[in-house]
Amino acid sequence: MSPQPDRIFVPGDSASISVGADAVAARLVDALPADARIIRNGSRGLFWLEPLVEIERDGERLGFGPVTPDDVDSLVAAGFPASGHRLSLGPVEAIPQLARQQRLIFARCGHDDPLDLASWIEMGGLAGLETARRMAPDNIIDTVKASGLRGRGGAGFPTGIKWETARKAGGEQTWLCCNADEGDSGTYADRLLMEGDPFTLIAGMCIAARAIGATGGLVYLRSEYPHAIHTLKSAISLWREAGLFGGLNEDNHFDIEVRTGAGAYICGEESSMLNSLEGKRGEVRAKPPIPAISGLFGQPTIVNNVLTLASVPWILEHGGEAYREFGSGRSRGTQAFQLAGDIRQGALVELAFGVSLRTLIDDFGGGTRSGRPMRAVQVGGPLGAYLGRADLDVVLDYEAIAAIGGMLGHGGIVVFNDTVDMARQARFAMAFCAVESCGKCTPCRVGATRGRETLDKIIAGDAVSENLALLEDLCELMTDGSLCAMGGLTPMPVRSAVKRFPEDFARQAAE
Ligand SMILES: Cc1cc2nc3c(=O)[nH]c(=O)nc-3n(C[C@H](O)[C@H](O)[C@H](O)COP(=O)(O)O)c2cc1C
Ligand code: SF4
Repeated sequence: MSPQPDRIFVPGDSASISVGADAVAARLVDALPADARIIRNGSRGLFWLEPLVEIERDGERLGFGPVTPDDVDSLVAAGFPASGHRLSLGPVEAIPQLARQQRLIFARCGHDDPLDLASWIEMGGLAGLETARRMAPDNIIDTVKASGLRGRGGAGFPTGIKWETARKAGGEQTWLCCNADEGDSGTYADRLLMEGDPFTLIAGMCIAARAIGATGGLVYLRSEYPHAIHTLKSAISLWREAGLFGGLNEDNHFDIEVRTGAGAYICGEESSMLNSLEGKRGEVRAKPPIPAISGLFGQPTIVNNVLTLASVPWILEHGGEAYREFGSGRSRGTQAFQLAGDIRQGALVELAFGVSLRTLIDDFGGGTRSGRPMRAVQVGGPLGAYLGRADLDVVLDYEAIAAIGGMLGHGGIVVFNDTVDMARQARFAMAFCAVESCGKCTPCRVGATRGRETLDKIIAGDAVSENLALLEDLCELMTDGSLCAMGGLTPMPVRSAVKRFPEDFARQAAE
């Protein structure tokens, strides 16, 4: 029998809990001696292996998964063997889908209890913030500009330029708002980080606060993320107790509060989010003014996505030029790709921009879970384009995917097999917009409903060519006339479905 492990890790994030991690942890407590050290860590993001139990022996972490409570006795009886057990995965860091990643943002995620601040500091978590504390705010902004970092919330706007605008805007109080709404279908990277390594996000927010001179920090989270809310709030308290918010700016005052929204897609749009934070209805604001000049309560406000802010500590620690080494074209650094839908190995895959869609779906994802042929893939959330098999060699960076009529968005990749009906998916896009529209502008509020009705007619085989022409007309109007990207981008999935899968729109007419 192998010697007893030094420590045992069972993920405690919501994804792992949803597949039974709590029951596995409880069974381990019963089966192991009272002094066994069972730690609830964050997930590594290899979801098809969850609950992924790791044991540490002489500094090496061995993985077993997916573990059910019924597997626990045989694992304990066998002494968690390095090999030979049917669930043995060998050293976790050598699992190919993890070993091949380039983890800058998620470097520490899953390594330990996400609320063990001492362990996080021991892993070097504070290095970026310590560097930033020694730098003048303008130099921090220059470093972020040099890195080429662009916002990971979807629009890909250069982060350093945005920060510079807010810094120069003046105002009584500058706000930093972290957008953790994460409404895109098939995305979960923000949640994974907040539940697995919240201190990296907090460090990124502290660096951003120093750079822009913010004295108030807010994180906007949806109520559907109760676990992330709890972990992040606890992490902020620990950070505060450790005095780590101190000395970031001349006022010596910066702190972060978590604010919870009811979970409306449009509240992820930054100006709706600001309205929601002000206690108002989540309705889009007309621009200008941009939030960096006049945002929360009319003050200069930076809104950044979780992953944008969590990228910053690495940049400050290693320098802007080092970060620029990763990526392709004008898309620098790494992107957290999130595999979902009909995929065998659902996973978070952090890689430099420039990887092909085929590599992600086939090599990392292992193809479809159903075993059926893949037919379509939606990249970039519910407003992203549907791509087909012929598009699989596109490299994933902002410009390359835009060149084929798509967008990268927040990095969500949802795979569909050959049973999908693309006319119904196009209808879903319009129906989604009709439900989630804030209602402020007519092209979106009325257009989405008319679009859904028109697609119903097409699906029913009613005057298909005329209704397809009407649909295209409507798409043009929504694209050009909508106030924000909700209505402006809904035509993207619709048009891409019509263009790439015309047979699904003509079928009913032919039948
Ligand atoms: C309908 C809609 C929903 C959005 N949802 C999110 C979201 O959930 N999270 C997010 O970070 N950005 C979201 N955005 C983008 C934000 O408006 C904004 O561009 C982003 O938070 C800025 O941060 P970044 O520069 O770090 O990307 C959404 C935009 C639109 C139009
Ligand atoms: S496009 Fe839709 S969500 Fe955006 S402002 Fe107009 S009605 Fe609101």
